[in-house]
Amino acid sequence: MVYCLCNRTLDKKRRNSLTKEINKEELLVQQEYIEKVKAINAKREQMPLAHVHSFGCQQNVSDGEKIKGMLAQMGYGFTPETAFADLILFNTCAVRENAEDRVFGNIGALKKLKEKNRNLIIAVGGCMVQQEHIAQRMRKSFPQVDIIFGTHVMHTLPQMIYEKLSENRRTLSIPESDGVIAEGLPVIRESKVKASVPIMYGCNNFCTYCIVPFVRGRERSRRPEEVIAEVKGLINDGYKEILLLGQNVNSYGKEYDFGFAKLLSELDKIPGKYKLSFMTSHPKDCTHELIDTIADSRHISYHLHLPVQCGSDRILKEMNRHYDTAHYLELIEYAKKRIPKVALTTDIIVGFPGETYEDFLGTVELMKKVRYDSAYTFIYSKREGTKAAAMPDPISDEDKGKWFRQLLDVQNSIGEKAYERFIGDEVEVLCEGIGRTADGLMTGHSRHGVIVDFNGTRDMIGKYVTVRIQKALPWAVTGELVSVND
Ligand code: 5AD
Ligand code: SF4
Repeated sequence: MVYCLCNRTLDKKRRNSLTKEINKEELLVQQEYIEKVKAINAKREQMPLAHVHSFGCQQNVSDGEKIKGMLAQMGYGFTPETAFADLILFNTCAVRENAEDRVFGNIGALKKLKEKNRNLIIAVGGCMVQQEHIAQRMRKSFPQVDIIFGTHVMHTLPQMIYEKLSENRRTLSIPESDGVIAEGLPVIRESKVKASVPIMYGCNNFCTYCIVPFVRGRERSRRPEEVIAEVKGLINDGYKEILLLGQNVNSYGKEYDFGFAKLLSELDKIPGKYKLSFMTSHPKDCTHELIDTIADSRHISYHLHLPVQCGSDRILKEMNRHYDTAHYLELIEYAKKRIPKVALTTDIIVGFPGETYEDFLGTVELMKKVRYDSAYTFIYSKREGTKAAAMPDPISDEDKGKWFRQLLDVQNSIGEKAYERFIGDEVEVLCEGIGRTADGLMTGHSRHGVIVDFNGTRDMIGKYVTVRIQKALPWAVTGELVSVND
């Protein structure tokens, strides 16, 4: 049976009430469901195991950590193997079609597991199923899926699992909403050293190619005091790297008159030895103040990920990006001037509808001017419901593929030499584990976010060391240990 919690018909007043912070009472109701599921699980002969896989971006990984936190409270252990799992949960991504195809493929493959084990619970959540047409396809064509839940109801997972366990109820819950903030959900973090902290959710920018504003709702910031308290807690708990997350961190805090640069300055004051990094910056909102804040800070990474998307002003307009290449290059010049040896990375889309070879050459030229350390390049993927999906797209997939490979070649030749600027520098790194560039080396990241392999020993893991850089590779540098600092 399909129990649909869909509230698409709710009036505006009620919908607006869904854009707010989830209140304590609602979370207490879910806490009761957590206890009920825990009681059911406690009666089993063995601890039930959950397999949770998050596709896509850091935000999804962060959501996955909260899902795991709730599952742990419900009495689940975890397994990396779907074959041993009593509950399989995919936290999905919708940004490009190939991510969705992978999820459909993976769910198809679970059919056999479900035939072997009728009690297996399969849940699919996140951005992909927040799209009505995908959720309906999943419901109809994949009967093995028990729970389909969108981005705005993740905190109700305990209720959905309880209803499946107690009444064998199948759930489809993809309410339309401008977005919610659920504070205080439990978290199981993937790493003991690095922690992600979402500072805002959703997006208001509606870049014409992008599905994110449709599936993640309107931009909304967490209260500054919540963010500061969480980061303080993590640093006190020994975390050494904090990654602040948001689709457009530069517009953080509008509701509170507490901008992103101010948030960074406040966080930078927290005592301790740690690194602060963030993603993603939007060039239209990235300011000199932000760049100055990074340059003058003690803890903020000297790395700026500034997605340009395209090097043609005409296409940037079609993409609704609200900046041109001159503005972008000015920001880059300022960052290069203010932040020592700044590490620059970007996202680029090749083959946006109507893009010509000349437009594409604008991207190549921009890439050569900026000289990125690395670039995440994507072939345009049509997303149903976005403005670009309705634009004429005459360029063949074959041509787009050729342009894409041409761009990769340009970036590879830049990337090969990019790290040479660090040769001879002494940099401090937190030793994180075994290196990959050669046998017998240890590894860590520099303040620029660059992988640094060096001649250390295993007992240095978790300690800060100083390394003199000797050699640059396309994706890492190697060097000699100078000192162990603590
Ligand atoms: N097609 C290809 N790439 C896309 N991105 C977002 N939407 C699409 C799309 N429809 C890329 C952008 C964004 C990154 C996270 O994903 O470059 O910055
Ligand atoms: Fe998508 Fe643009 Fe928002 Fe980034 S800023 S999430 S690309 S709409």
